[in-house]
Amino acid sequence: MEWYKIPDLKYTGQTFIKRVKAGGKTICLVGYDNKVFALGAKCPHAGGDLTQGWCKEGKLICPVHRYSYSLETGKGSEGQNDYIDSYPVEIKDDSVYIGISSFWEKFKQAFK
Ligand code: FES
Repeated sequence: MEWYKIPDLKYTGQTFIKRVKAGGKTICLVGYDNKVFALGAKCPHAGGDLTQGWCKEGKLICPVHRYSYSLETGKGSEGQNDYIDSYPVEIKDDSVYIGISSFWEKFKQAFK
């Protein structure tokens, strides 16, 4: 897994939703409830931009049709049967780092 520092972002506990790039991926970075979450930015339902959404009760809400996804796991709410990718986040000295696994790392883990 490679860790990518997000430039121009100092995290001090604020609430935010921001589109960032890391490891060639477009990520919806969310500061919510004194934690930071990194999730896929594209809604699997019909491609809505999740960085334009909002948070409610621990979920990220898509602005297009209001599907919702767990900030912790990316899992879609009951009845949706979908998910968005979620990535590990580390905070060091107020800087935010996102961990991205390569395709081969994911492949090897799937067949362990
Ligand atoms: S595009 Fe996101 S809920 Fe439909």
